[in-house]
Amino acid sequence: MKFSIAPLKTLATLETDALVVFLPQPGTSCGLVEAGAIDAMAVEATQDGDFSGALGTTYVRARPEGLAARRLVLVGLGPAPIQPRAWLKASQAAAAALKSMGAVRVHLLAADGEQALAALAPRAFLGAAYRYEATRKAEPQHAYKVDSVHLLTRQPRASAALKEALAVATATQAGVDLARGLADLPGNHCPPEHLARVAQGLAKRHGFKVEVLGRSEIERLGMGALLAVAQGSAQPPRFIVLRHDGAGRKDPVHVLVGKGVTFDSGGISIKPAPEMDEMKFDMSGAASVLGTFEAIGQLQTRINVVGLIPATENLPDGCAVKPGDVVTSMSGQTIEILNTDAEGRLILCDALTYAERFKPASVIDIATLTGACVIALGHVNSGLFSPDDELADALIKAGAKAMDPCWRMPLVDEYAEGLKSRFADVANIAGRAAGSVTAACFLQRFTRNYRWAHLDIAGTAWNSGAEKGGTGRPVGLLVRHLLDLANAPRA
Ligand code: BES
Ligand code: MN
Ligand code: ZN
Repeated sequence: MKFSIAPLKTLATLETDALVVFLPQPGTSCGLVEAGAIDAMAVEATQDGDFSGALGTTYVRARPEGLAARRLVLVGLGPAPIQPRAWLKASQAAAAALKSMGAVRVHLLAADGEQALAALAPRAFLGAAYRYEATRKAEPQHAYKVDSVHLLTRQPRASAALKEALAVATATQAGVDLARGLADLPGNHCPPEHLARVAQGLAKRHGFKVEVLGRSEIERLGMGALLAVAQGSAQPPRFIVLRHDGAGRKDPVHVLVGKGVTFDSGGISIKPAPEMDEMKFDMSGAASVLGTFEAIGQLQTRINVVGLIPATENLPDGCAVKPGDVVTSMSGQTIEILNTDAEGRLILCDALTYAERFKPASVIDIATLTGACVIALGHVNSGLFSPDDELADALIKAGAKAMDPCWRMPLVDEYAEGLKSRFADVANIAGRAAGSVTAACFLQRFTRNYRWAHLDIAGTAWNSGAEKGGTGRPVGLLVRHLLDLANAPRA
């Protein structure tokens, strides 16, 4: 699908398969003097009771009189002033309305909404077009037919701001799609080695450096916690290092760490059978790192970023790690594994130690870490944990701007009490209370010499129910954050 910006000439003679016009409530005027014919039809539609301008509603008129367009699609924005969320909802409604139609080439028109549409159209239209096809036949009759989307602007030429917004949105959505596709991919099609191949493919396409460590190299590094999780699986673990040197050698390095558990059965502390299939998504943190690299690769963002992905399965087996086993992490701290289902923090803690070698300005880890986070925040906000107010605020702002929000949770030592062990430096679980916080407290013990934040995406990376599947979150938040850092004036 292609997106472009087209200067608006005469509406009446604009040849297109669908002219999509956004109107605020009451849905009688799109706010453009040159759109008299459209407004007249909108008035008719509201008088007939067919359209109200309510947020997310649509009205389609085939072969509209006085227009060269084959279809006119009116989309309600709800009452003014129109908030960013409303623009998102309305553009998604527009994209959905075109789902069952033959329109291939579409034009979008919104008075005073050009900038908003440029930032959201790729998300709405590529989101609508996304189809999982890795292991099922494509059904051509259900294919999304829209193939080019033109944003009409009243400026004689597309402004730099408009072009920039469109480029960022398109690249971000490509990253979201990549992450979504990986989360959807079944565990047997997405072992650790597959994540490594995806990273290598990204490196080739965008000029990143990439390194993939196998079991023996992971052993040599002393990553005993990652190895403990991996020892129950026949699939060998991988430790993936991706690197985008978009800024100078002396410029700061930012590290993203993504949990890459390609299937989480719980291990010996096995999970109940219902919905266990969904635990193929337990590599969504890794997928979000790969998706973010796709976006910054397309944009060639001027920033230095390292992506770290510890990747493994978590399975029960004769060789699997057992409750009560004590292992030595790369940091030297010993860990009593009281529950083998708390495996994410085990693979992450070694990656957090590995991150030290980059002398990073910041480290953000992203993980489908706890069911407790889903209970606390549901599917709306990702959980944000950080001892660093400045970093936390930056991530909250980035999430809000990208409409990929996160909510800060407390991170104070009192919660870490329960992690005390009689047999090791630390246990990998505490009690049931505040489970997402105690998990973050565990991770914090392995963060040294850098600013750090942790995003728990257990509730936001996946949709359950009939429409179950990956969401591609929090790629939008991460890309926005990195762009904000790249654009910030150097101190
Ligand atoms: N991958 C899960 C977290 C998860 C659970 C994500 C449900 C989405 C939905 C993680 O590895 C896990 O199993 N965590 C345990 C931790 C517990 C044993 C302390 C959990 O949340 O139950
Ligand atoms: Mn688990
Ligand atoms: Zn897990």
